[in-house]
Formats: sequence, structure tokens, C-alpha cells
Amino acid sequence: MAKFNQSIVAPSLLAADWTQLGAECDRALAAGADWLHLDVMDGHFVDNISYGPSFIRHVRQAAPDAYLDAHLMIERADHYLDRFIETEVNNITIHVEPDYPVGETLRRIRAAGLSAGLAINPATSLDAALPFLDQIDLLLVMTVVPGFGGQSFMAKETMPKVEAAVALRAERDLAFHIEVDGGIDAATAPVATAAGANVLVAGTSAFKAPDMATAITALRG
Ligand code: DX5
Ligand code: ZN
Repeated sequence: MAKFNQSIVAPSLLAADWTQLGAECDRALAAGADWLHLDVMDGHFVDNISYGPSFIRHVRQAAPDAYLDAHLMIERADHYLDRFIETEVNNITIHVEPDYPVGETLRRIRAAGLSAGLAINPATSLDAALPFLDQIDLLLVMTVVPGFGGQSFMAKETMPKVEAAVALRAERDLAFHIEVDGGIDAATAPVATAAGANVLVAGTSAFKAPDMATAITALRG
């Protein structure tokens, strides 16, 4: 599908220097970032706590024109959804694993005029996402167990799911992005891209690189 041939690079602000938040957003965008990725962790769904809507509002102020890609690693995305919609992000991705009305939450994201994403953990089968594929604009195939930056890319658990999602998308004539998140660097990005992923989230490999523009160019392969 021609539309998904070009890689979208989304640096994750989790790895940025938060004492310089605005400058870090500018640095990523000047280095060629297409989107900025925002990792929200609640200390329940994942074993870490990151930041929430008020932090994201500061990002929106710092980067008024950027495409903001929010990844909610939280138990109750339905409960907190309106607060994230109000931050004026462009995409909200929710996880399929917790026990809450996933389909209804995806509908609410789209009804607010935003792009709706659905994420699956490395241990979660693609089958869990199948009932929702016609309700999403983005499928996030996690390539690490979420919770922390700087982990290693899990190719064998996750690349077959990316390949299967590409096939299903064509079969069902759907049009969602396929995003990978976790351990993406110059060595693993081509593996994910070859499998069919077109959105590359990069925390460590982007923000901790000696030169972010060089690092982002390397991700594009
Ligand atoms: C994983 C987060 C990722 C993470 C990626 O819990 O969802 O977005 O920050 O970080 P790196 O690129 O360092 O693996
Ligand atoms: Zn993420």
C-alpha cells in the first residue's frame, strides 16, 4: 500500500531532558522528527509512572504545530480519556489488554476528531486486536514489554504480528498505520520496516544520540 511506504519517525519524549522540555521538542523537530511520541504510564498497567495530561499540555504549548502521538499505558483509558483529548494531541493510542470497553473508547477518540490507535504488548496475540481493526487509524505493535525506555527489541515475538497485520489490512481493505515502539535504532528499524511497520518510535536512539538528525536519518534506512 503506497500510503504506508514512507517511514514516520516519532521520537519519544520519555528519553528527553525534561528540564529543557521546549528546547527538546524543538531539537527533535529540527532533526527531522515527523511526530512526537508521548508515553503515559500509570504505575498499574506498567511498572512505572511517567507523566499525564498536564505535562502533555506543556508539550502542546512548546510545540503548537507538532503532530502529538499519545500512547496511554494505563488501566482505565476510558476514565481518563476526556482529559487527554483536552490536551490537543493528534493521536491517542490505548491498549487492548486492560478490562474496560475498548471499542467504545476507540469510538470516543474518533468522535473527538482524533486519530485512534490500539496497542498490543509483545505477549498479546494479534487476535485480540482483530475485532477493532476497522475502528483504528493506527496499530501499535509493542516491540518491548512497556514500562521503560532502553530495552532490547523483541524481533521474534513481534515481527510476525507486524507481517500478519499488513496482510489483514490488505485483505480487509483497511488503512491503519503500523507503529513499532521499543528498542528501535539504526539496526532494528530496517527489520521493522521490512516486516511492514511504517511508524518508528525511538526514545534512546533519538534523544541520546550524539546528533539527533543523523540518528533520525539512520532510522529511515
Ligand atoms: C516503552 C515506551 C517506549 C519507550 C521507547 O515503555 O512505550 O515508547 O520510551 O524507548 P526506547 O526507544 O528507548 O526503547
Ligand atoms: Zn510508547
